[in-house]
This record gives sequence, C-alpha cells and structure tokens, in this order.
Amino acid sequence: MTKNTKSSKQGMDQRDDVLGRARVTDNDELLAFYKELEAHSANAFWRRANEIEPWEPETRYTPTIWRYDDMRPLVLKSSQLVSPEEAGRRVVVLVNDSDAGRQHSAAVGWLFSGLQVMKPGEITPAHRHTASAQRFIMEGGGAYTVVDGHPIELGQYDYVLTPRNCWHDHGVFENGLVSIWQDGLDIPLMNALETNFYEVYPEKVQKPSFPVNDLPLVYGNPGLLASSGQTWDKPYSPMMIYRWKATRDALFNLAKSQAGSPIDGQAVRFSNPLVGGWAMQTMGAQMQMLAPGQHGKAHRHTGNVMYNCAGGEGYSVIGGKRFDWQEHDIFCVPSWVWHEHVNLSNEEEAFLFSFNDFPVMEALGVFMEEALEVQGGNQTIAE
Ligand SMILES: [Fe+2]
Ligand SMILES: [Fe+2]
Repeated sequence: MTKNTKSSKQGMDQRDDVLGRARVTDNDELLAFYKELEAHSANAFWRRANEIEPWEPETRYTPTIWRYDDMRPLVLKSSQLVSPEEAGRRVVVLVNDSDAGRQHSAAVGWLFSGLQVMKPGEITPAHRHTASAQRFIMEGGGAYTVVDGHPIELGQYDYVLTPRNCWHDHGVFENGLVSIWQDGLDIPLMNALETNFYEVYPEKVQKPSFPVNDLPLVYGNPGLLASSGQTWDKPYSPMMIYRWKATRDALFNLAKSQAGSPIDGQAVRFSNPLVGGWAMQTMGAQMQMLAPGQHGKAHRHTGNVMYNCAGGEGYSVIGGKRFDWQEHDIFCVPSWVWHEHVNLSNEEEAFLFSFNDFPVMEALGVFMEEALEVQGGNQTIAE
C-alpha cells in the first residue's frame, strides 16, 4: 500500500530527484571537505538530509504479535524462577521484532509493554518513576494496587493507571488467584527525552491512607460529580481505574444508538472525567467492539498502538500482512502503517483494548490520519 519509489539500483528514492531535496554528487574535493568537517564534530547536512527528513514517517518498528498460548507458559515460568523481591518487577518484556525494539526495550515506537504475573501472597515492592504506567488486567483474582496511598481492587479487563511519579505497589491477596496483567509504560519515551528518574519507597509497601477504591467511588460515576470533597488538581484522571463492566455497557449502549466507525466499530476512550481528553498526559487507551462479522476499513496514522484482545476472535491486516488473534493475544501497529480489523465470528462481538502515544502526538500537533481510499478501503493481503 505504501508508495515504494525507492530504487534499489541507485539506492535513492526517485522522489528525491527534485529541487528542494539533497542531490549532491560527491567529488574528491567534497570528500576532503567532509573529512575536514568531521574533524571538527560537524557534517554537511545534504549528506543525510533526505534520510533524516523522509517524505513521510518511516517506522523502525515491525508489526509483531505475542500470542497468549506462547506467552502464558513463559510468564508462569518466570514466577517459578525469580521472586518479585529479587526482580523488583517480575515482568516478561514484549520486545518489538526489530533492532529499534531490542535497542530501546520497546514494544512499538516509544512504548514499553510487558506481562506481569503475581502469585497469591506476593507483592511488588513500592517504587515510583517518571515514566507513566497503565495496566490491563488479563486474568486472575484478588489482585490489588496501591497508587499514592489509594488502594484499588483489580478485576479482569479493568484498566488501571499509575501516572508519572505516583508511588505504587501491587499484590495478590493470600486467598486470591495467580494474576496476569499487561503493563504499558512510556519508558522508551522518557529515556529518549532523558528525563527518567526512579526511586524506591522507604518501606516495602505503602500503608493505605484512603478507603479501598475511594478514587473510582468518588470520581467514577458517569455524569455525576461529587458536590464536596473534591480536591483533585493533578494533570491526570482521578478515577485511576476503569471497570470492565462499565466499559462493556458503554459499548453496547453506543451500539444501540449509532452505527460506529467504519474503521474501529464502536470505541470508547478512557478519559479524565473532570476535563475530558485522555486519562494521562503521555499515553492514551481505548476499548473497541467489532460487531459480528464486521470487516473494518483500513486507515493509518501517526502514533503507535498496542492491542490486546479482550474477547472474541478475528484478524488484523497490518502493513498488508494478516495477523490472526483471539482472546489475550497482543499485537502492535507502528506509526503510519495501514491497518484494519476483522471480527471472524458472525455471532459474537470482538473486543480490542489498545493503548497508544496519541496524547503526545496531539500535544505536539503532529497527529495525522489518512483513510485508505482505494480497493473499497481494504488492503491487499500479502501471501
Ligand atoms: Fe512501576
Ligand atoms: Fe488506527
């Protein structure tokens, strides 16, 4: 789908042979000049201008899928091999299948993701970092987190925040079940910006200083704001957790009243109830529901997305390649790569949770989106 005008013969993009692009032919005098510049920690811009300013975004990341059938045994194995006390955070990192992914411990773009497992009675020691974090609970029971002293119970398919610099620790009660969730952080972005700090809490865990679930109880009532006692002045959502039941109900309510997007079906974003917008400053998340048999149209946009199937089965075509998914499978869509989603069931809805770096793209004014206008809006699938 992407225009490919690069000629391997000449090693240059034919579109670069135009006034306004770098097209200098080197000669001995220039080569000597480049050496002279290098000796002074300098370079001639035209040598790399076309490479570092491509005509359109050129992702260094590869569409990658992590199937739960493969990942779950490995995640459980990690819980036999190391303790959370030794590991700090016992997480199996989802590494994008690319040099950039391996170099930056990135799942896609400047996003980190991993699968964290907690056994009954275990805790992850309290700490905080500049990187923001979010978790999508995949399985288990009796898990909890404490964020800046606010204890929160975690249920399957709940979406929970740990915004930047908030103290947090997690655990599973003794009578709970082995619990697994997907972590999503902006560690690679904070490192790219060279602004990542990390601190451990003076004690092993925080002493809860608020009633259990107080934040979602106060701030999580749709359209209803408490008349008193609101003191929230932080730049992220005070709800802290978004319950699966409310999210699912919202999607079915939407479906009763509107057709939904031809690209994403019915979709809701997790939002800050006080000011709207995304729940955190650097990462956003949404849940979408594909109707039975829905074959979404293709589009592409700047910004990177990690998906996690929260029920149903289907496939996505990403950059012309088909990736089949079912419940708990995780996959990514890198920036400016065409993608479309298909629900393979004619009876059941399919749900895709996703998190992204759209808040960064929007804040910087560089979010761009394009719908595929040819072939009825669907990509050709490569064999
Ligand atoms: Fe953390
Ligand atoms: Fe998209």
